[in-house]
Amino acid sequence: MNDDRSVVITDVSPRDGLQNQAGTITTQAKLGLIQRLATAGVPSIEIGSFVSPRAVPQMADTEDLARACSQFPAVRLSALTPNLKGLERALACGIQEVAVVLSATDTMNERNIRMSLNAATEASTSVLQAARREGLRTRAYIAVAIACPFEGLTPVSRVAALADTMLNAGADEIILADTIGAGSPMQVDMLLRAVARTLPIERVGAHFHDTRGMGIANAWVALQNGVRRLDGSAGGIGGCPFAPGAAGNVATEDLVLLAEQSGFRTGIDLPGLIAAIDHAQTMLGTPLGGRSLAWQRRQHNGAKPQRTMQ
Ligand code: COA
Ligand code: ZN
Repeated sequence: MNDDRSVVITDVSPRDGLQNQAGTITTQAKLGLIQRLATAGVPSIEIGSFVSPRAVPQMADTEDLARACSQFPAVRLSALTPNLKGLERALACGIQEVAVVLSATDTMNERNIRMSLNAATEASTSVLQAARREGLRTRAYIAVAIACPFEGLTPVSRVAALADTMLNAGADEIILADTIGAGSPMQVDMLLRAVARTLPIERVGAHFHDTRGMGIANAWVALQNGVRRLDGSAGGIGGCPFAPGAAGNVATEDLVLLAEQSGFRTGIDLPGLIAAIDHAQTMLGTPLGGRSLAWQRRQHNGAKPQRTMQ
């Protein structure tokens, strides 16, 4: 990234937002969400996961989605690939970007991907190296980077060391994830300062959940520390099936408002994003929305696409 005032938001709603939903969501409905996000100018979208369909049934159609999404060439599309089998599936359907997910504690790795921390570090390293050899772009999540639902507070030094290991393994981006939304702005600040001692901050992203209502405050601290990559989910949909108590991600619409009102550019069109949220609401049959959505709806109520008068 060469522009310090640009913030790249990755919308993870089709993956983090939908992986835990109980009812069946059709591929067509997911595609409708991704299409609307792309039309709204979201530059990066995590569309699904190449994981065991028995572990996460909702993500079983990720190949179909990836193939259907090749119609949005301007958007970075990525999917989770925690092991080499996942990477093989990603390569077979032509997705250009993959993400590994390394939790910072033994128990979370066991629950999530059935590996110890050491085994998960090795598996993530192998996936990153193989993905790079294939010319893919790569993201590495460090999950439970603030606290683990099973082991409590995560030592900052361990997160910093894992982030460094993932960078050396070839990750283009390291995403520090507060998977259960336990972090305060002070903790996020301490973590980012520690990580920035060894990692270039432009390679670091932040992924917050809003369980305690601190997602947007944490995102502001990340911006203040020089982070220019933030994950959110449209309407704040989300939660992890293997991390008890995790609420949805910080809402993409709240992140866009925070960034734009603080002098950053996201390239995301808010009426277009609201259309994506409306679609997700219909799809899930439940009201959605970040803290700012009601206000944003009033601002954009009746807003029509601009036409040139000639
Ligand atoms: N995609 C599809 N199937 C996969 C797979 C993948 N990436 N990796 C493994 N499998 C299948 C194997 O083929 C095997 O199937 P079989 O029983 O029909 O032969 C089965 O899963 C078990 O394989 P194994 O290698 O022993 O995996 P595991 O049982 O140790 O599980 C994961 C490892 C990662 C596949 C599994 O724990 C998982 O999918 N976790 C979900 C992670 C996730 O999405 N979390 C939420 C987001 S962070
Ligand atoms: Zn998450």
